[in-house]
Amino acid sequence: MKPTSTNANNRNNRYQPALYGACLALMISTFLLLFAGGMVTSTNSGLSVPDWPTTFGKNMFLFPPSMMKGGIFYEHGHRLFASLVGLLTVIIAVALFFFQGRRWLKMAGISALVLVIVQGVLGGMTVRYKLPISVSTAHACAAEIFFMLTVMLAFATSRVWGQVPDQPLRWNLPEQFLALGLCIVVFLQILVGAVMRHSYAGLAIPTFPSAFGELAPPFWNFGIVVNFSHTRVGASLVVLLSAALIVFLLRSKAQARGVKALALYLAMAVAAQCVLGMFTVWSGKAPVPTTFHLSIGALVFALAFLILLASHRLRLDGGANRSNLGYSNTKVTVAPDKAVPTSGALRA
Ligand code: HEM
Repeated sequence: MKPTSTNANNRNNRYQPALYGACLALMISTFLLLFAGGMVTSTNSGLSVPDWPTTFGKNMFLFPPSMMKGGIFYEHGHRLFASLVGLLTVIIAVALFFFQGRRWLKMAGISALVLVIVQGVLGGMTVRYKLPISVSTAHACAAEIFFMLTVMLAFATSRVWGQVPDQPLRWNLPEQFLALGLCIVVFLQILVGAVMRHSYAGLAIPTFPSAFGELAPPFWNFGIVVNFSHTRVGASLVVLLSAALIVFLLRSKAQARGVKALALYLAMAVAAQCVLGMFTVWSGKAPVPTTFHLSIGALVFALAFLILLASHRLRLDGGANRSNLGYSNTKVTVAPDKAVPTSGALRA
């Protein structure tokens, strides 16, 4: 039988274990890289290696490991690990582009590649310009977006993505708005957190939950405004929005089990994040809880984004077709009477 374009598409869009494995490795190594990068700031090692792209005038890959001590260990180790993540990203972006059929996923691979390059340059600029707040903040936020992209790649190339059953109409508008709103609020919270961290305002209000013995600070300056916005206002908004979204998703009778599981993970991540934030303050910014707080912040962002992504999954994959682990981007390979309407497919 002559191969149709649908068959060709299905071949390209199959679940590919090697590709999934690589994306999973990228996601895990990016999470570790976030932690390693956080430790650079948390231990004040940002300028332990004063030059870039060289390390003490040497090719960074030839720098002797025996000299990686103290702050150099954190700073140079972060650079080496980042190079590994960069290499993995190049391989995955090329593989997605040539061996994978979904257009949006190709674009996601290219975006990850562009972002990892931008991130490398931003990292270099933080060193060259001696840690300016704007560049360090951009580097911190780009890191969280990059991690979110790697989670998306791992999720979209996994078997789970295609195995979600065919019933299409599981999302109602409040859930979608809440998912979108939560992504925006968490990103703003991360942005304010990064400004606070890099302007050394993490302890501008040195107590929690009271602020200088009161509910709201009795006096204000830049550091206190940023700190209050993050530790009280932003944190409350994140908790309220995520609680509303989680309740909606868990109570919905039609919602897929996988999405309910994501909602539970989000609940755990937000709770852990708040506890870690409090320990960051109570411990006077001890490096380990502070750095875990930064990393779990990235996880909260990634989980909120995954829920949003799941709500748009049918649209992203081009409609109703689920015949080949759900990976085809062609519109009709199921019988027309069983085909799912794609317009309004996200409404309950
Ligand atoms: C619940 C949502 C929260 C999220 C998503 C979040 C996220 C973040 C992130 C990503 C950073 C680091 C930014 C960077 O440099 O890359 C940060 C910093 C910080 N966060 Fe949070 N945070 C949350 C809640 C809290 C709470 C409840 C507290 C305190 C009670 C808190 C206290 C802090 C402090 C003190 C820093 C600065 C650490 C430093 O100066 O090194 N956060 N937050």
